[in-house]
Amino acid sequence: MRKGAEKPYYGFNAVRYITFASVGIGIIILAAAIIFTISAYLTWVLILCWVLGLILFIAGMLWHLFMGFASNPKDIETIKRDFLNYLEGIWDGKGKVLDIGTGSGRIAIEVAKHFPEAQVIGMDIWSKGWRFFGIAKEQAEANAGIENVDNRCVFQQGSALDMPFEDGEFQLVLSSFVFHEIGIPDRTEIFKEAIRVIAQGGTFMILDTFRPLNGYKVKNVPELLDKIEKYGVENVKYRNLKEASVRLGGIAHFWGIAYISGKKAGNQA
Ligand SMILES: C[S@@+](CC[C@H](N)C(=O)[O-])C[C@H]1O[C@@H](n2cnc3c(N)ncnc32)[C@H](O)[C@@H]1O
Repeated sequence: MRKGAEKPYYGFNAVRYITFASVGIGIIILAAAIIFTISAYLTWVLILCWVLGLILFIAGMLWHLFMGFASNPKDIETIKRDFLNYLEGIWDGKGKVLDIGTGSGRIAIEVAKHFPEAQVIGMDIWSKGWRFFGIAKEQAEANAGIENVDNRCVFQQGSALDMPFEDGEFQLVLSSFVFHEIGIPDRTEIFKEAIRVIAQGGTFMILDTFRPLNGYKVKNVPELLDKIEKYGVENVKYRNLKEASVRLGGIAHFWGIAYISGKKAGNQA
């Protein structure tokens, strides 16, 4: 964890480092290949340099095009603003909120800042792997302190597959870029568990990449929405960021970034 920081820290910028490493090493190897070619140093080393250099360079550029949005401050800000705007339209801002897979608390903290009547819990598994990238409970707590919302935004360890909460405990359940990380045979099970902890009439809003969909054992989006509806929710909506004209860099929209939201069937929470 970063100590004594004045700004919140949301983790190590792994996407950018991978781009720099791949493109940078690719360029160095290609430069060596050009020198070997000019000096007519035609051996297997020369061929290896061209092949390896090109592979690394192209892989780094593709990685940047597909994944660059995840580390671009402008895209992160765009997504954050759109998330809060969309949430304003579907939720009244009052009550207990759960952010599943909160990481270092970015969304949980933004929701607490934006909705002064919200009591937010950020939950995450905080596995060793993610800790390596600076994503940890202590970091989330420190960030909430820096943003002055630690009286309404707390953090608790738990898995999205079996959450340490009672049925119907929350007026709002959120998640951002988490479900695709969870490798189980059918990811709609995560929706099922999320819906369990929502109060009747309460809201859920999941932002994630919904391409490909085979992790949800469905062929298309309407099939996925049908499946979710069967878990006891109504008014299930899908809002694709590309179709909503949210501009992101590179070819981020390839991943089908979208919100799935709805209301748990029953009376008002
Ligand atoms: C890409 S990060 C997203 C973090 C945060 N939601 C955000 O938007 O900044 C994915 C997060 O999912 C969490 N995660 C992965 N599997 C989980 C599980 N089974 N239960 C809860 N959290 C999980 C990871 O620990 C990590 O913090």
